[in-house]
Amino acid sequence: MAGNLHPDAQKWNEIFRQEGDAWLARQPRQLLLDYAAMLPRQGLALDAAAGVAIHGRYLAELGLHVIALDISEVGLRLARQRALAQGLWLEAAVYDLAHPWFPPDCFDVIVNFRFLERATFPMYLRALKPGGWLVFETFVRTDTAVPSPTHYLNPGELKAAFADWEIVHYADTAVQSPDCRLRQVEQLVARKPGVA
Ligand SMILES: C[S@@+](CC[C@H](N)C(=O)[O-])C[C@H]1O[C@@H](n2cnc3c(N)ncnc32)[C@H](O)[C@@H]1O
Repeated sequence: MAGNLHPDAQKWNEIFRQEGDAWLARQPRQLLLDYAAMLPRQGLALDAAAGVAIHGRYLAELGLHVIALDISEVGLRLARQRALAQGLWLEAAVYDLAHPWFPPDCFDVIVNFRFLERATFPMYLRALKPGGWLVFETFVRTDTAVPSPTHYLNPGELKAAFADWEIVHYADTAVQSPDCRLRQVEQLVARKPGVA
């Protein structure tokens, strides 16, 4: 069975097995809270690399139908259980975002927190409806002298990747992680070009 798992799934399954309750207790990141008032209250949302779907469940509380995707079935199971207990509309599927494919113009909102897979960038453009919202926050490397780790943005990379979009918010900033460490992140809130 383990041989069929995504190479990183075992690690994340173990993290969510050990620390699932702590993850479930976390609040959505401030970026999503800050822009929630501008997001639609109905339609379909994607929580990409959802983990236990902290952000997906928050969007479902706002009224959206949510699809949570992740390689960790342990994280997704916790997400589903909590969503069902809360009476929220949230479906979950094991899915490798390194090889994404989504139908065009189907999501109203996509959230991508603390995860980087560059292959998703063109797919987010394709999968959002015109006027749809992308809320993205992930780590940026601070030491530009060393080669970039795969899952860290290069400084300014997020802004450049979505330069053609209507950018509602962009920041390269330090935020506090749940373990109280300050981490450098890039934040982007942007709308897909086109008539809503
Ligand atoms: C730091 S956690 C962030 C979880 C969630 N977005 C949050 O902010 O709470 C990173 C997540 O990415 C997931 N992940 C790692 N590689 C993935 C891949 N190739 N496809 C989908 N999810 C992946 C992990 O299982 C984990 O849940």
